[in-house]
Amino acid sequence: MNVCVIGTGYVGLVTGTVFADLGNEVICVDNVKKKIDMLNSGVMPIYEPGLREMVLRNVEEKRLSFTTKISDGIRKSKVIFIAVGTPPKANGESDLTAVEEVAREIARYMDDYKIIVNKSTVPVGTGNFVRNIIEKFKRNNCDFDVVSNPEFLKEGSAIADCLYPDRIVIGVPNHHVAMALLELYAPLERPMLITDVESAEIIKYASNAFLATKISFINFIANICEKAGADVTLVAKGMGYDSRIGSHFLQAGLGFGGSCFPKDTLSLLCTAKKFKEDASILESVIKLNENRVPRFANRIMEKLKPMKGKVIGILGLAFKPNTDDLRDAKSLVLIRDLLKKKASIKVFDPVAMDNAKNILKNVTFCKNAYDVAKGADALVVVTEWNEFKLLNLDKLRQNMRGSYLFDGRNIYARERVERAGFKYICIGMR
Ligand code: UDX
Repeated sequence: MNVCVIGTGYVGLVTGTVFADLGNEVICVDNVKKKIDMLNSGVMPIYEPGLREMVLRNVEEKRLSFTTKISDGIRKSKVIFIAVGTPPKANGESDLTAVEEVAREIARYMDDYKIIVNKSTVPVGTGNFVRNIIEKFKRNNCDFDVVSNPEFLKEGSAIADCLYPDRIVIGVPNHHVAMALLELYAPLERPMLITDVESAEIIKYASNAFLATKISFINFIANICEKAGADVTLVAKGMGYDSRIGSHFLQAGLGFGGSCFPKDTLSLLCTAKKFKEDASILESVIKLNENRVPRFANRIMEKLKPMKGKVIGILGLAFKPNTDDLRDAKSLVLIRDLLKKKASIKVFDPVAMDNAKNILKNVTFCKNAYDVAKGADALVVVTEWNEFKLLNLDKLRQNMRGSYLFDGRNIYARERVERAGFKYICIGMR
């Protein structure tokens, strides 16, 4: 099938590449020339394990191409995916400006029947919105359908998530268009759910908000564990064995960040308010999440005060492991709080350093974790990269001036850390 994917962010680039790998002819379009130039010279604009190899292979085999010319992509393809950003506005609503612009371009260039698929995370009603724009601006009488096909991939495992999704949700206005999408996804042999457009749009937000709720819930339990002398990792394990609850997304820590959960929970909150529905459940989820870093920062400051002149080493900057993404990363909030208290900050992340250098000022960028530890009064684990789990703790401790290890992701066993001479403070335990 001839497929066009508009937007080469995480979702668009990975989806387009996977469709090409399944044998389709895919044109990926982006209006940022620098990104397209990078892709055309084999350089990935994002860090995602396995992506580069898959892109290069499909470009080589001429199934995948990159262009800034949206008209080419639209004219040559039967199915057009919209995968552009929908960032939050100041009031938390999703900003649909990019979706609207793309819809106008599609209206302008389409010359044949087209299936327009919304892959961007968009509030319920956006399918209709896109349909109305195309109807209004189209230049000839060709027919089209608008479909909602939300993406559930996670950064860091995006390719695998795309190839082996738990489910494929396809929200369609009629049976005919459903068949075309089923055909496109059939090679994956995964469960598919056909719904109306609005239900598909809500499935995406409901799923993300539910997972965010699970995280805030376990973090709330972690707060109680800290006071009660219990261990949240054991509590989560005990809960997770119940198959109705499941063990996923019960990792207590510094809360959820990234490009999806914070913005999607806010957007769903706005939708609920728009429909005049009580949204206090979501408000609590968001509030609990926002309190994670200040609460942890207070625990750090209690132990180290006065903060002036103290050297704090931060291990991990990305919002989660296996990505270089710093959007809504907890590291940034924590570093800002500690700098305000006049601490000196040293940082290291295995892949997010280049991105961090564009954002973080007044911190020392280090070569590795041992370099971070040199002369530090305390270390703080913010991102649970595998390479931090296997550090030589004796060597780390010997490099330091102080002896505190604050673990915001519970990656160490207390005995091991204490044996190396650390004072260990983690989440959801005394
Ligand atoms: C998420 C959804 O999982 C994915 O389906 C959707 O398409 C996009 O949003 P992503 O943001 O890439 O994916 O990362 P995810 O692995 O879900 O983690 C999100 C945040 O939650 C991270 O900050 C992570 O550290 C945090 N988290 C996750 C926890 O604090 N505890 C957990 O148990 C799980």
